[in-house]
Amino acid sequence: MKEILQELERRREVARLGGGQVRIDAQHARGKLTARERIDIFLDEGSFEEFDMFVEHRSTDFGMDKSKIAGDGVVTGWGTINGRTVFIFAKDFTVFGGSLSEAHAEKITKIQDMALKNRAPIIGIYDAGGARIQEGVAALGGYAEVFQRNVLASGVIPQISIIMGPCAGGDVYSPAMTDFIFMVRDTSYMFVTGPDVVKTVTNETVTSEQLGGASVHTTKSSIADAAYDNDVDTLLQVRRLVDFLPQSNTAAVPEIECYQSVTEPDNSLDTLIPANANKPYDIKELILKIADEGDFFEIQESFAKNIVCGFGRIEGATVGFVANQPMVLAGVLDSDASRKAARFVRFCDCFNIPIVTFVDVPGFLPGTAQEYGGLIKHGAKLLFAYAEATVPKLTVITRKAFGGAYDVMASKHLRGDLNYAWPTAQIAVMGAKGAVEIIFRKDIADPEKIVAHTKMYEDRFLSPFVAAERGYIDEVIMPRSTRRRLAQGLRMLRNKDLTNPWKKHDNIPL
Ligand code: HXC
Repeated sequence: MKEILQELERRREVARLGGGQVRIDAQHARGKLTARERIDIFLDEGSFEEFDMFVEHRSTDFGMDKSKIAGDGVVTGWGTINGRTVFIFAKDFTVFGGSLSEAHAEKITKIQDMALKNRAPIIGIYDAGGARIQEGVAALGGYAEVFQRNVLASGVIPQISIIMGPCAGGDVYSPAMTDFIFMVRDTSYMFVTGPDVVKTVTNETVTSEQLGGASVHTTKSSIADAAYDNDVDTLLQVRRLVDFLPQSNTAAVPEIECYQSVTEPDNSLDTLIPANANKPYDIKELILKIADEGDFFEIQESFAKNIVCGFGRIEGATVGFVANQPMVLAGVLDSDASRKAARFVRFCDCFNIPIVTFVDVPGFLPGTAQEYGGLIKHGAKLLFAYAEATVPKLTVITRKAFGGAYDVMASKHLRGDLNYAWPTAQIAVMGAKGAVEIIFRKDIADPEKIVAHTKMYEDRFLSPFVAAERGYIDEVIMPRSTRRRLAQGLRMLRNKDLTNPWKKHDNIPL
């Protein structure tokens, strides 16, 4: 009996070594952890339960029958993050470069099925060379099985991808269909085809970093939601994100103890808006003062900075913040900002996370670059996302809400539940200068008349009161009371019950 038990232990030890000590050392020398080390850091201590440790590939071509390694390049299982169940798979680069064989794919799809059946988030850690070249179409089929499950799980359980090494081919398409992608600076890359293929096909010479490094995907392509300095930091940040998320689309939003008063006024907010309406201020200052303990997890911080999106908590429960950023392009809505926020709003709506929107927007960005780039369709994405969302929607207009952007930013007309404005709000079709130049064009040569018209326009329209007179704004509130108002509103909206008409799915302008 003792020998049998020892044999299990021996087999486990061999499996845990993956591709062997030399390859583990090489992994460390590159500043990367191994798949098992990553899982250990990511999950609560001792909570990991491994699946399929002894699975091996079944291919025989190219001498592969003589080269089998237990686990076949991916470590799978489940564990907990601060006590809540998550499912996980981590590619093991030390085994055939983490490449995907038929058996490797079966390990992943088993975990995907478990996660979906048991309604818990799934996290994939990537460090891999794509389809196992020796397996050919069996590997391609394996990827498609993974992709199909990504799609079925989308909107049902949170799916998160962490890129911690090279990722090519199939290993980028599966992450692309998940909710969030995180990368590690300098050691992770994502591309459909690598630099060598690029050189052959397009004759461009690029490095892996230039083609698909974290800097590219967090600032240019917007494929990645954030990047961090090393494996450990990245894993700890994603743990932080998981704490904000519900287990599934039918689970309640997680709640933790809240230490910051929601009733105490924050007088500093009364002076947040500068006296000059064209002077910028940092909208993140407002978010940090509204979120419990200033704890804010920002999504796509380095992309389309004219809009800020991320998770925080109010009175202990998760909310999604969306806010125009006057510090960047005066907070204007352009194609990138619209796409970024639309995706975030849709994520919140999938998972019943209330949305708090802070509005200070001069409108949509004019110009040929935007129009040729499809601003109409991209702007419509955000409009569509807000209009479709049935979660509690609370909106505070801090300053400008001009033109179509007023409508789009969770206005009353798009089923906003609570629409507040600060006394500094200006709600109008456009700013005074543009408006006067159009409706008083005949007086343009007379500066005195223009000044008088401008004053009249500002007095009448550049305030929250015209909108409040119509009930488009539920209440004009003191800035200092914003946290209390939002907390009370969120409490009132806890039992909100609103559903859209039945449909197979919508046809959002993609
Ligand atoms: C089998 C692979 C492999 C693969 C790497 N290895 N990729 N084995 N199939 N796809 C093995 C190597 O043979 C090597 O084995 C070990 O992994 C480490 O690889 P190295 O090349 O030594 O490492 P490195 O120099 O760091 O380069 C890593 C890499 C490179 C950038 C990932 O290996 C690479 O370019 N691989 C091929 C990537 C690719 O084109 N994949 C196919 C994509 S198409 P030893 O034994 O020496 O340690 C695809 C189709 C799906 O995925 C599409 C669905 C839409």
